[in-house]
Amino acid sequence: MTERGLSRRALLVGVGAAGGAGAMFAAMSALGLAPGSHDTPAFDAPAPGDFALRGRAAARVVVLGAGVAGLTCAYELGKAGYDCVVLEARDRVGGRNLTLRGGDTLPEIGGETQTAKFGEDVYFNAGPARIAPWMVTMDYCRELGVPVEVFVNSNSSAYVYTGGMRAPVRARTARADMYGYIAELLAKATDAGALDKRLTEQDRERLLEFLSGFGDIGGKHTYEGSPRRGFGAWPGILPGTPLPGPGTLAEVLSAGTGRALTMDFGFDQAAPMFQPVGGMDTIVTALVKAVGEHRIKLGTRVTRITDRPGGVEVAYDGGAVTGDYCIATLPPHVLAKIPHNLGTPVTDALRTPVPVSAGKMGLEYGRRWWELDENIYGGSSETDLDITHIWYPSHGYHSQRGLVVGYYAVGRHADGYARLTHDQRRARALTQGKKIHGELYRTGLLSSMSIEWRRQPHIEGAWVAWPSHDGGFTLLQRPAGRVYFAGDWLTSLVAWQAGAMESARKVVTELHTRALARPG
Ligand code: ALA
Repeated sequence: MTERGLSRRALLVGVGAAGGAGAMFAAMSALGLAPGSHDTPAFDAPAPGDFALRGRAAARVVVLGAGVAGLTCAYELGKAGYDCVVLEARDRVGGRNLTLRGGDTLPEIGGETQTAKFGEDVYFNAGPARIAPWMVTMDYCRELGVPVEVFVNSNSSAYVYTGGMRAPVRARTARADMYGYIAELLAKATDAGALDKRLTEQDRERLLEFLSGFGDIGGKHTYEGSPRRGFGAWPGILPGTPLPGPGTLAEVLSAGTGRALTMDFGFDQAAPMFQPVGGMDTIVTALVKAVGEHRIKLGTRVTRITDRPGGVEVAYDGGAVTGDYCIATLPPHVLAKIPHNLGTPVTDALRTPVPVSAGKMGLEYGRRWWELDENIYGGSSETDLDITHIWYPSHGYHSQRGLVVGYYAVGRHADGYARLTHDQRRARALTQGKKIHGELYRTGLLSSMSIEWRRQPHIEGAWVAWPSHDGGFTLLQRPAGRVYFAGDWLTSLVAWQAGAMESARKVVTELHTRALARPG
């Protein structure tokens, strides 16, 4: 049999017969067919003996920024004994990985400083809040001993709300109606022969069988509602009271209740997702401990970066440090403003990505009414209001207090909230949320905090958008002299901690290879 004639399927069948399921799975992985197979290169972390074996001292590295990228760089380099110093302009570590707890303060550019009044055990993940299981973030949690728990990203008990609706509907009802009507339309089109050009007789049978289950449309291929929609009174001893409805197809479409259906369809948003127990900044705390607190200099705003043949000099407010190399992990639009001698193309490249606005509000309640009265345990309600989402906590179930995210807005909605004072933001978020949860949403509130990432000092954006990956993105993948660049903004995982970590690993690998190869 020629190589061409040996189909992939035939090859797999052969391997399976000879080597059993394990060998077949391995072969499928090699072909990129097995679920979970991917091309992410294995990371070979710098190791303690790397410098000693070559009889030389470890290099000194100045890391700019104590966010997730900067801390990951210092952590990985530290494994081989690099002498790292991390410069951080703010008076706290973590960058956008920010968990607010009672007593924490939050400054804002051109605005007031808020102080969190949250009770004990209440926290607000003001930045990243969820992790997909395939992300390298999970590997760091494992390695650093950070316990994780499930983050409920989708909840059929939460609501869908569209402005103008008399009352919100539960996501399960919205889903049953949309799936039901889609299945009916497609089944009837199939029955009427409208798809005959695309489908064989057998295809038709298979499709109809699938649609019958997908939409619960029965033999008549007509959607007449389904127990999937939920009940007025839950089933118990008695079968449960059906909800009124469903509305007509036109009513369901005009209500826009399909909104909640695709929220978690994305590869990076699919269930299950995870969060660190006790707050997202548990990752930062563990990284800082591993790096060594003494290596991190807070309140050191970088004022100049000078690349020289023998090293890099970094000046900051009140001092300067030198290193053999520098890794700049600041957001590109912030880095672009710092004087340097790395050349105009670098400045142009740093100016290319556009900062994106996003904001969140944490609302603390003394009674977990969403669980007690509405049976909502985690997940989010999806709206077309400017609050966009309401998130319910995925931890602390049945405890006394709890924190709901009253808005998580991106783009123009975030800009709208950013223009307001905190009190105005809260008033607006409560007015909107009340449409879904009623008066209790306002009256039961204990305290609140809001963050608008465009107005966070030394960060000035939630994440960035690149017009394309040509030009600047490619240029900054390479060092400018002895200065490397790292951050989520240099990956295809923008707005994920995993991006920051992947980028850190790439730069650490390149820098370490170069440091080991340099002349003694
Ligand atoms: N990664 C961010 C989120 O999950 C954008 O919302």
